[in-house]
Amino acid sequence: MHFFQYRGNELYAEDVAVKELAETYGTPLYIYSYNTLTRHFKAYEDAYEPFPHIICYALKANTNGAILKLLARQGCGADIVSGGELYRALKAGISPNKIVYAGVGKTETEIRSALKAKVLMFNVESEDELREIDRVAGLMKTKAPVALRINPDIDARTHPYISTGMKEHKFGISIDHAVEHYRLAAKLRNIEVVGVQKHIGSQITKITPFVDAMKRILLLLDELKRLKLPIRYLDIGGGLGITYLCEKPPMPDDIAKRLLPLLKGRDLTLVMEPGRSIVGNAGILVTRTLYLKKGDGKTFVIVDAGMNDLMRPSLYDAYHHILPVRKSRRPEIKADVVGPICESGDFLAKGRKIGKVNRGEFLAVMSAGAYGMSMSSNYNSRPKVAEVMVKGKAHALVARRGTYEDLVQHEVIPGFIK
Ligand code: LLP
Repeated sequence: MHFFQYRGNELYAEDVAVKELAETYGTPLYIYSYNTLTRHFKAYEDAYEPFPHIICYALKANTNGAILKLLARQGCGADIVSGGELYRALKAGISPNKIVYAGVGKTETEIRSALKAKVLMFNVESEDELREIDRVAGLMKTKAPVALRINPDIDARTHPYISTGMKEHKFGISIDHAVEHYRLAAKLRNIEVVGVQKHIGSQITKITPFVDAMKRILLLLDELKRLKLPIRYLDIGGGLGITYLCEKPPMPDDIAKRLLPLLKGRDLTLVMEPGRSIVGNAGILVTRTLYLKKGDGKTFVIVDAGMNDLMRPSLYDAYHHILPVRKSRRPEIKADVVGPICESGDFLAKGRKIGKVNRGEFLAVMSAGAYGMSMSSNYNSRPKVAEVMVKGKAHALVARRGTYEDLVQHEVIPGFIK
């Protein structure tokens, strides 16, 4: 559910016409819906309410400070994957004891900052990393709370680039070697073993992979209990999918209803790391039609948003609905919707049937809230897009449009270039 709907022929973001926003703030423009965000967060809170839990929003999906602040205010935690994300989470007021730190390549500097901030736990992905965290914690005369990320060898049945829980993936520690890693962790002086984590992939639209992975992890928990290595936090990762085309993913509640009975009688706090399912359908990207071009047997709708602003179609061949901001009665055309970047891979849609658009008209790329702005770049020296948030009738800029000065301000010309 989201609050981007037509009223008559006009697309609205909550109670504001998208056209008005596009004209006020310019395009390309990301628009986020406050009420969609809070609704999605609440869906998780309500679903897991019967069991002790912490919802750690996966920052990588969208790091906009206003979104983080809004979630922090609702009591949300954070799943971070870098020192930069730690900085953003703390800046937004997310409580450190609700921050979990994932990623296969944490550096010493990053480990130090996370220990200093006193994050809830590190989700550790290898023996080398475990030893490094132990070493750094020792230098800092502290103990590092650690969960091991276990790769349960479950097929998430999603796009290969965003599937992470199988043996061939770089992520986590194979479930077959989990116990020996836990034994080692328990011996390391500056490590405190507190949890188990798993994350099997993203844009998962079936319940079964979540349930199967959970069952495997619970067998491991039983084994760890026998070995007197008790676990306090069970972190089940993120990965719940959203509707881009006609997928019918389960709701958080549907999954909770299957998972919570499996946890009966266990003295645990459940941690989860949703990203896409919180922000994905809470954001759209609005773009202006610059030109129409008839190629040989092909029509191109050339718009002012490119792959640098939303790279999912180019990178994953991902589908996003493209809707006219104002519906017309004109006949449909079949077209490639492409951006201004100098790459053939720069497209938002290929061979798409859309209502015929005229130059200057706006199009809305739907479900763009997750992995849209956060994966954007300045390629072709295009400044970053502006972002606005709408709450009912109110709207405000939550990130200003980048400038040409922004493009170069961090660069330095060395003295030897005369
Ligand atoms: N936890 C971990 C350890 C992760 O690696 C991820 C996503 C999440 C949580 C959040 O997953 P979500 O709930 O958003 O599915 N750029 C890709 C998605 C990459 C996901 C990476 N990890 C895309 O645009 O589809």
